Amino acid sequence: MTSIQLPPGAPGARILGLGAYRPRRRVTNDELAQTMDTNDVWVQSRVGIAERRWASEDETLVEMSVAAGGKAIASSGLDAADIDLVLLATTSPPEAIPGLAPRVAHQIGIPRPGAFDINAGCAGWCYAVSAAADAIRAGSARNALVIGGERLTDYTNLDDRATAVIFADGAGAAVVGPSDVPRIGPVVWGSDGDLHEAIAVPPGEKGMSMAGQAVYRWATTKLTDTLVEAMRRAGVGPDDIDVFAPHQANLRIIELMAKRLKLPERTVIARDIVRSGNTSAASVPLALSALLESGEAKSGDLALLLGYGAGLTFAGQVVVLP
Ligand SMILES: CC(C)(COP(=O)(O)OP(=O)(O)OC[C@H]1O[C@@H](n2cnc3c(N)ncnc32)[C@H](O)[C@@H]1OP(=O)(O)O)[C@@H](O)C(=O)NCCC(=O)NCCS
Repeated sequence: MTSIQLPPGAPGARILGLGAYRPRRRVTNDELAQTMDTNDVWVQSRVGIAERRWASEDETLVEMSVAAGGKAIASSGLDAADIDLVLLATTSPPEAIPGLAPRVAHQIGIPRPGAFDINAGCAGWCYAVSAAADAIRAGSARNALVIGGERLTDYTNLDDRATAVIFADGAGAAVVGPSDVPRIGPVVWGSDGDLHEAIAVPPGEKGMSMAGQAVYRWATTKLTDTLVEAMRRAGVGPDDIDVFAPHQANLRIIELMAKRLKLPERTVIARDIVRSGNTSAASVPLALSALLESGEAKSGDLALLLGYGAGLTFAGQVVVLP
């Protein structure tokens, strides 16, 4: 039988550059308290959010994704024409058809890439980074643009204070390219579909609902093992981790995970939730961009990532920062 040839692929993959877009409008807890029964003390102490960004009308999901993607390409040192795969992780597209990735790629000026959306809840960007790295190692792509973009306010019910204070908008992106040595570790991903109703837009409704306590319990009991396994598979331990950047869903969950992992004092912990709220698939790249911009993290740092959310889905991996 004729054998099918495979391209050689790359020995490893790495993140070449990151980019972020944060909507202009800051919304404080005090502002929300003017229109709903909530207060700054509750939100800060239960979730850890001081303010979040909400997109204005002109800040569409496409525009935010284009802005973040363009910045990631600029910081990678590549040209748009070098990209041949575009993955857009999102849970909040304005419509189901068509997917947004081809349009985002076109607006950035990337000529005819493979392009598709990924809906893996708040874990979407971590799923997509891994899919891109594997495509590059397998020779299916040379360089990939991996965007996490959300306009969750389109799916927020302002009458539901439990979710309205949490969810927010924004986009973060990375360019993933080939590397002689692996700089993106093996992913540990999975799902608990029996809990699919825990975070959902119920049939016939426009706004998202969340079984907060059930998700909290799941996140704090099931996901530390994922992080430990991601480190084990990458051949590193807690003492090697310079940056811990989990999904920005709740500051208490972030602190608890860091404690359980016994990360050293020097490890920088991403707390972007304080200023950005929960931006779902955008939260990890937004958090990484903020740490690099502020100088708290630096190029070459070893970062432990974790995405988790609607599905329920989860994905963790160790990466080297660009
Ligand atoms: C959502 C979450 C912050 C809620 O915090 P919580 O401590 O579990 O709060 P509860 O839902 O038990 O509510 C406690 C009380 O606060 C009230 N409350 C809820 N939202 C409030 C708000 N925005 N302001 C003031 N009070 C609020 C509730 O009505 C409830 O009041 P009651 O005791 O009188 O009934 C928390 O459960 C959480 O972070 N869960 C995980 C979310 C997550 O990880 N998602 C994954 C990815 S998206």
